Amino acid sequence: MPDKIDHLLEDVETFPPSAEFVAASPVPADLYERAEADRLGFWADQARELHWHTPFTETLDWSGAPIARWFGDGELNVAYNCVDRHVAAGNGDRIAIHWEGEPGDTRTITYADLLGEVKRAANMLESLGVTAGDVVAIYLPMIPETVIAMLACARIGAVHSVIFGGFSADSIRQRVEDASAKLVITSDGSIRKGKVLALKNTVDEALSKGAASVKHVLVVKRADNEVALQKGRDLWWHDEIAQVSDEHVAKPFPSEHPLFILYTSGTTGKPKGLLHTSGGYLTQTAYTHRVAFDLRPEEDVFWCSADVGWVTGHSYLVYGPLANGATQVMYEGTPDTPDLGRWFKIIQDYKVTIFYTAPTAIRSYMKAGRQIPAKYDLSSLRVLGSVGEPINPEAWLWYREVIGGGRTPIVDTWWQTETGAHMIAPIPSQVALKPGAAQRPIPGIVVEVVDDDGNRVDPGQMGLLTICEPWPSMARGIYGDPERFADTYWSRFPGVYFAGDGAGVDRDGELWLLGRVDDVMNVSGHRLSTTEIESSLVDHEFVAEAAVVGAKDETTGQAVVAFVVLKRSKSEEAAAVDTPQVLRRHVADDIGAFARPREVYLVDELPKTRSGKIMRRLLRDAADGKQIGDTATLTDASVMATIQAGMTSGA
Ligand code: WT7
Repeated sequence: MPDKIDHLLEDVETFPPSAEFVAASPVPADLYERAEADRLGFWADQARELHWHTPFTETLDWSGAPIARWFGDGELNVAYNCVDRHVAAGNGDRIAIHWEGEPGDTRTITYADLLGEVKRAANMLESLGVTAGDVVAIYLPMIPETVIAMLACARIGAVHSVIFGGFSADSIRQRVEDASAKLVITSDGSIRKGKVLALKNTVDEALSKGAASVKHVLVVKRADNEVALQKGRDLWWHDEIAQVSDEHVAKPFPSEHPLFILYTSGTTGKPKGLLHTSGGYLTQTAYTHRVAFDLRPEEDVFWCSADVGWVTGHSYLVYGPLANGATQVMYEGTPDTPDLGRWFKIIQDYKVTIFYTAPTAIRSYMKAGRQIPAKYDLSSLRVLGSVGEPINPEAWLWYREVIGGGRTPIVDTWWQTETGAHMIAPIPSQVALKPGAAQRPIPGIVVEVVDDDGNRVDPGQMGLLTICEPWPSMARGIYGDPERFADTYWSRFPGVYFAGDGAGVDRDGELWLLGRVDDVMNVSGHRLSTTEIESSLVDHEFVAEAAVVGAKDETTGQAVVAFVVLKRSKSEEAAAVDTPQVLRRHVADDIGAFARPREVYLVDELPKTRSGKIMRRLLRDAADGKQIGDTATLTDASVMATIQAGMTSGA
């Protein structure tokens, strides 16, 4: 990373909240002050927004660091908090989920409906011998049963391990074996782009070798796809649930009772199963969902476009919104079925007020052009969120202007699977927003940007993001491997959490997230951020998307190599000039000659994981002329083959 980047010291245009937005905001105006004055007391207050069967008296026990205990002597039931209490408060008729299938079929589920389903599903799990502490693997598409299954596990104290529906049989087996799951819940199929993916067959393949802990496979009927049921092991969800009672009392569990395991890929080796527990996790997901999105549960229609198989789906499609009694949209399919207008049609049809998505999606719409969203009425939107990677200022401004009608705040939320919930995000009623920055830790979170020796950097400088104090929704370790948790996150700077991300501090003391430090390059002794160069490239009028990697270079240590997708609308202009040369010069002019890419490759598409992250590791291998590594998590493995073919032919 360079020591300074210009926009940390320069004036940037800011977007303060409108007077009307501030006046109507349900978020207490003194939140930052309260958290500052008494951090633990502040978190205890947030926790008391939940229903505790046994109130806690102790807020934090950090004596077993880095494994925290929050609200340790309290008892609660997570599912009761997400469903029963809203019905008990008289809101049973409120819609919990507007579900829409990809073919256009819909289901409207009120909180009272959800309560009935969750109670029956809890009875069904118990009838199959699942008890508190057992692990249930869930390999399902984006259908209501997925949410119901997760809540049913929570209700009986079973631990869910959701496996994203795009994972292979081997990945399923690895995860099922790692956690000794007793039950797998899947479906006859998943509908994507009008085609049926045979999820049950993939589970059969996963279980055909090993995975001996699995006693039953429960199959939800979704796609009218024929499946073979293995006698004694496999059962239809609809048959089993029809046989159980709809009475079920939610028993309390200790605050630190495990809630779920979620696997996330490390840089090497086997995926890490991050373990999350109950009281602290629910406290912070609910709190951040309220304050970062300015939530008014009675009026808002929230939509998080993430898949429930990733942490964003867990925290902001299931636990946060439901704990808050919000109404939300859940969409099964792809954004381009039947065409690229689908998401905007959903926003229009359900009058979505808060929309939460990833920069990569925003940039692909930028590439496709504003004429697509322009066909729909998006005037219901009042808050937009971003998550998953740094959002470049150009995408931020486009999102606000084109999707938000020039009126909505854009809330950039930084967090990780490991942190469980938002950590850095501006509160839109209280902060003048800066395009491209997540700006401030949420009240209650303490972070510091430090240099390699752990000293705090000055305004205008960049460094490593650390989290200095424990927080309620932090992971309680890597399942089955406590040492790896301590080593991975707590050993670089003893006593503080090292996130693996770089960040800059601007002259106002606000934070700019710069991406993983594993992607940071060192060119001739100059430290460069991949993110910064990508942002520069994307600022060029020709460029829709860019990925930059540090390739090996005999002379300079590393060299900058860029992979660029051009905007379709600019293809003629780009073809008329030496575009790679133009872009190299653009970066040199924008950042400095030392940042000039050694190569710029024009490509049709960037390799992305199914969660939408650009796989820079693969591009780095390609740039180094190496054989391409594991492409198992790519949405489309042919993308890399096409890119490499283009590179050798000198594109
Ligand atoms: C990594 C965590 C957070 C849920 C989805 C991803 C990057 C995430 C931002 C953001 C800059 C971001 C970080 C982080 N990241 N959000 N708003 N700005 N970077 O969860 O798969 O655990 O990935 O995503 O590099 O470390 P994840």
